[in-house]
Amino acid sequence: MTKLDRLVEQWLQAEVAFGVLEVPIPRAKVQALREKARVVAGQAAAAAKAATGVRPPATVAPRAAARATPAPPARPAASAAIRPAPAPEPITLKLATPIKDLPPAPAGKLADEPQLSPEQKQTRMAELEKAAIAELSKHLGGSANRVVFGEGDAAASLMFIGEGPGAEEDATGRPFVGRSGQLLDKMIGAMGFTRPQVYIANITKLRCAEPDPMNPNRLKDRPPTSEEAALGLPWLHQQIAIIQPRVIVTLGAAALCFLRGQKLPVTQVRGQWLDYRGVPLMPTFHPSYVLRNYTTETRAKVWSDLQLVMQRLSPG
Ligand code: URA
Repeated sequence: MTKLDRLVEQWLQAEVAFGVLEVPIPRAKVQALREKARVVAGQAAAAAKAATGVRPPATVAPRAAARATPAPPARPAASAAIRPAPAPEPITLKLATPIKDLPPAPAGKLADEPQLSPEQKQTRMAELEKAAIAELSKHLGGSANRVVFGEGDAAASLMFIGEGPGAEEDATGRPFVGRSGQLLDKMIGAMGFTRPQVYIANITKLRCAEPDPMNPNRLKDRPPTSEEAALGLPWLHQQIAIIQPRVIVTLGAAALCFLRGQKLPVTQVRGQWLDYRGVPLMPTFHPSYVLRNYTTETRAKVWSDLQLVMQRLSPG
């Protein structure tokens, strides 16, 4: 299967699994693949000519030749319904404001941390979970009834980081099991993974909520304060150090900003590669934002971010 075939397959997966009927096509990527195929076909032709003194017929490399055929300029490659991904606006990260009073991420690159086998990672993660539950249980009360540590494959190549548990997560002790979680499951499925193959964690391990002004008998989830984030972050940094994922996806502003220790505008930075200790970090919208703004445009933006992640994870 060629890279182009794989891309087309991914778009189809999105249509089925993520419910995006108009998937943005990474046109620059397709053009780059076409150009590469053209160069390879040219090199093959030149080599054949040098060896035989004869120009090879067009049938020598039919696949490459077919791929090398330039597309009509105004028509998308895969389907008339597909439209180009909007180019993300570049931002100057130097302008991002640091968030005060957060425990900093450990120094150095993740790759410099001890290299563990998958079995060692599972063991270390189980030990870390025990320690986190023992420590953070001291802070239960108010809106938090349980420590929601995180779950998934401790040796996963892909890690998702959210903000913090909501009511369903607090009730079950598992991350992303409510409505946002159901959408996250779809996103993971559309990317060709199952939930147990990735790792899902949050900035805070305890639910942050306050009385709902519309109904004071109910609690309404709210973003964590810096102090609340500071309580969860050391555990998250350790989780990431054990997993050493190849790619991190942050879901929403709180996850991105607290992980990076900087205030960053998700609407502007989503779709652009950032970095966490040398590991590529893709910021995207939180599933709850997608649910609140359930338009093709929002879903297509998220899907285009996830496609960049899939391309980064794909071999070769
Ligand atoms: N939202 C989050 O950010 N995390 C969860 O675990 C659930 C909802």
